[in-house]
Amino acid sequence: MCGIVGYVGDGKASDFLIEGLRRLEYRGYDSSGIAVFENGKIEIKKKQGRLINLENLIKEMPVSGHIGIGHTRWATHGKPSDINAHPHGDSHNRFVVVHNGIIENYMELKKKLIQKGHTFKSETDTEVVAHLAEDLDDGDFLSTIKKVLSVIDGSYSLVFMDAEQPDTLICTKKDNPLIIGLGEKENFIASDIPAVINYTRRIYILNDGEIAVVKKDSVHVYDADGLPVSKKVQEITWSAEAAEKNGYPHFMMKEIYEQPKAIYDTIHIHLTKDGEVKFDNLNWTKNSLESIDNILITACGTAYHAGLVAKHYIEQFTKIPVQVEIASEYRYSKPLTTARTLCIVVSQSGETIDTLAALKEAKRLGAQSIAITNSIGSSIARESDAAIYTLAGPEIAVASTKAYTTQLVILLLLSLYMGQLKETISKELVHHMVEEFKVLPKQIEKVLTENKHMEKVAQRFIQAEDIFYLGRSIDYAIAMEGALKLKEISYIHAEAYAAGELKHGTLALITPDTPIIAVATQEEVMAKMYSNIEEVRARGAEVLGIGYDDDAELEKYTTEIVKIPRVDEFISPILSVIPMQLLAYYTGIKKGNDVDKPRNLAKSVTVE
Ligand code: AGP
Repeated sequence: MCGIVGYVGDGKASDFLIEGLRRLEYRGYDSSGIAVFENGKIEIKKKQGRLINLENLIKEMPVSGHIGIGHTRWATHGKPSDINAHPHGDSHNRFVVVHNGIIENYMELKKKLIQKGHTFKSETDTEVVAHLAEDLDDGDFLSTIKKVLSVIDGSYSLVFMDAEQPDTLICTKKDNPLIIGLGEKENFIASDIPAVINYTRRIYILNDGEIAVVKKDSVHVYDADGLPVSKKVQEITWSAEAAEKNGYPHFMMKEIYEQPKAIYDTIHIHLTKDGEVKFDNLNWTKNSLESIDNILITACGTAYHAGLVAKHYIEQFTKIPVQVEIASEYRYSKPLTTARTLCIVVSQSGETIDTLAALKEAKRLGAQSIAITNSIGSSIARESDAAIYTLAGPEIAVASTKAYTTQLVILLLLSLYMGQLKETISKELVHHMVEEFKVLPKQIEKVLTENKHMEKVAQRFIQAEDIFYLGRSIDYAIAMEGALKLKEISYIHAEAYAAGELKHGTLALITPDTPIIAVATQEEVMAKMYSNIEEVRARGAEVLGIGYDDDAELEKYTTEIVKIPRVDEFISPILSVIPMQLLAYYTGIKKGNDVDKPRNLAKSVTVE
């Protein structure tokens, strides 16, 4: 969603602000802007469209001040335009602000401010915040901002400048991420770590309600009651290159190819020498698990699809019923969550506001909670009783790939761990799965050799207007992820269907012009799957099968097959999704789309 940066120091503020915004481009945006203090006032430059538009503007009208803030906007209130772009100032640009999130009560605040004589330039909720600061100004920057925070509702990360105090930035957050990068004679503010990684590896992660007063030589953090907070410096361990493309043409391709390593990193810390599974930070026992009657998995998009696969894992290994809910629906479904519910939230970014809200609701109803996330110290990790990390490294492309497969790995390991503790599965099964895990990175490398094959398939599929993804059981959940990937990258309509359900209506849509992708890895439903493939072939559809390399039968039923190595059926989803990721990538590329930043989408969705 929106990206935020701030700088105060001896350097030229605009250099960091632009560089930082560039590193946050992956979040998705429609306009950008910066504000820099110079010649006794705050200069604001902003531009609709890509960052290059802002850079060109700054080249024409350079700003050389040493303190400033910047923003990439993803429109929520008011269309993308120069005027609606951030930063926003009050009537005299005395207080200037950048914001990520939504001010929910901005309408009523705006009405009151207009009655008091304030004139608004933009349609945004954010501009209200700057005018409020002007209205509530008591001569003390910090105390004024506290007053502003006491009247706004909603979610936000905010960074303020005050033209009367041109050596200070004030920032705060609620339900949106914000970090402070600590430098020598300079400090940085950003909504995400990649923005600062080339400047410092030492950061503070702000918690909800905390307010930081940032100057070039000092950072003072206060809690919501105004008491000083002693923050722990966190060291960033991943390299700057990890956030770069490393020679790949796109982040998405790089991230697809990083899956063997990401999966190895994620798995190996959870395996014991005795061939069992461990989660060191979970203090579960057989007894504590007996107190769980049901499990709720809630998440959005790709992470939700991981949850759908996990339902199969958990129910089979623990015999505990699992409900999987789209996070944005959960809160409004009058949930039957209780203190005997374990809520598992899955989120790559750890900042998706729908997922965070669902987690808070489940906790309010008494549930215990675990977060599975790729983002250490994220809001969702901190809000949960315990956090388990997918060690995928930074995922920059909007389309999730390595985060998804590492989520599947963690969910499978966690299910086995629960089964192991509850003694609902045999030791032999755990040992067998551990052996499968050990060879999984190599198996993924084999599937990646289908790269060229998928490029050829993509060439044919770019003509299609609709593509159906079919599967039964776990393969249906994987088909859903395959279809989502194709939609978001290629903009071709794709739909996943439970293969047995197609004949109850949707089969009417199948024609020779409707390519089908059929995932067939689950033995129990294999014969039925073959029949379902026959049904679509009989309507003239081309069928690309995804199945095991030794499944000679599948080859007979389909037009063409993509082979994955024979693995345990619980592991197969981690392999069968990879050709679908490659297909989406190549289809998007061949259609000339910006695959890393697909239209209308953002990497981290921090609005409801
Ligand atoms: C998938 O490719 C998308 N980027 C999207 O569905 C994503 O998985 C969803 O927005 C949830 O994000 P999260 O994992 O960061 O919570």
